[in-house]
Amino acid sequence: MRSKIIVTGGCGYIGSHTVIELIENDFEVVILDDLSNSTEKTLERINKITGVTPEFIKLDLKNSLETNKVFNEHKYASGVIHFAAHKAVGESVEQPLKYYKNNLYSLLNTLEAQSVNGINNFIFSSSATVYGTPDILPITEKNKTQRPFSPYGNTKKVAEEILDDFTKSNKAFSAISLRYFNPIGAHESGKIGELPNGIPNNLMPYITQTAAGIREKLMVYGNDYPTKDGTPIRDYIHVVDLAKAHVIAVKRLLKKEQETTLEFFNLGTGVGYSVLDVINTFETVTNSKLNYEITKRRDGDVPQLYASTDLAKNKLDWSANKKLDDMISSSWAWEQNLRNKT
Ligand code: UD1
Repeated sequence: MRSKIIVTGGCGYIGSHTVIELIENDFEVVILDDLSNSTEKTLERINKITGVTPEFIKLDLKNSLETNKVFNEHKYASGVIHFAAHKAVGESVEQPLKYYKNNLYSLLNTLEAQSVNGINNFIFSSSATVYGTPDILPITEKNKTQRPFSPYGNTKKVAEEILDDFTKSNKAFSAISLRYFNPIGAHESGKIGELPNGIPNNLMPYITQTAAGIREKLMVYGNDYPTKDGTPIRDYIHVVDLAKAHVIAVKRLLKKEQETTLEFFNLGTGVGYSVLDVINTFETVTNSKLNYEITKRRDGDVPQLYASTDLAKNKLDWSANKKLDDMISSSWAWEQNLRNKT
C-alpha cells in the first residue's frame, strides 16, 4: 500500500513542488491549506504535471477542533510535512502577533492532532534565518542559532525549540527540521512556481517582475557590505532540489534511519552569490538589461549566508544539482507563463 503524507501548505510555493516530488515517488498526498497565500488552481497544475490530483482539504490549522477532526479522518497517514506559515519578513515586523499566532498555533495544533492520532513522523520547513548573523562560514548545523531579526524568523527558531521539547517528551515521535537557504526557481514544466502576494519582498520575484514590466525598477539594498562587490551574498537553491530533499527526509523517517529523534539539515548549494551576480546572470540568461538602482541597506540583512552541505550529503545522500542559470531561467519561464495566462 502507498504511504500517505499530509502536506500542510501544499498549495504554496515550496509545498506544491514537494507534492509533485512525493507523487512521483509513489506517495499518496493529502494537502491541507487555508489558501490565504495560495490558490486552489495549483491542484489542476499538479495534475497537469503528474496526472494525479491530490486530495485537498481547505483548513485553517489555527482551528484546533477542525484540525483534530481532519487528522482523525487521516489517522493512517505515515507522516506530515508542515509548510503552512506566513513568510513575509517586513509584514512580520509590523504585525508580530499575526505571525506568532498563525505560525505557532498552526504548529502546536498540528503536533497535537498528530500525537492524538498516532501520526509520529514530522518534517518542518525551517530557515537559515535561525542562524542570525553567523560568525563562521560556511554555516554548519553546529553553528549556534541566534534570535532572528524578524518575528517571522523567530517563529522558525521558536518552532525548532518546541520540536526539541516535544520530541524529548514523546519518544514515539520523530522530526526533521530542514533549514532552507534561499529557494528560487520553478518547476521545469513552467506550470508551477512562486506566486508572491502583492509587491514581492524577495530578490528573484522582484527581478522577474521588473523584467516583465510589472515593477519599474529593482532596488539593490546596499553595495557597501564587506563582500567582493559590496552586495550581500546568499546561497540560492533551486526549489525542485529543495523539494527532492523533503522526499528523502520523509523516507528517512519512515525507514527509521534517523540518528536522533530531532535532526536538523541545511538545504543549500554551498555556493554563495552576490546580488550583483544574480542580476548579471539574469541579464546573460535572458539576454536583456534589468533596470536597477543601488540604494541604502535594508534593515536586518546580513552580509553573507551560505551553507555547509556536508551533513545533508553524508546523512541524506542529497545534494543540490541545479545551477544558478537553471534557477534563473526557470523563474523567468514561470513569470512569462504566468503573465500569458492571466
Ligand atoms: C529572506 C528571509 C529568510 C527567508 C527568505 C525566503 C530573513 C533575514 N531572511 O531571506 O528567512 O527564508 O527570505 O523567503 O528573515 N534584495 C535586494 N532588493 C530586493 C530584494 C532583495 O537587493 O528588492 C537583496 C537583499 O538585500 C538580500 C538578497 O537580495 O541581500 C536576498 O534577499 P531576499 O530574497 O529577500 O532573501 P533573504 O533576505 O536572504
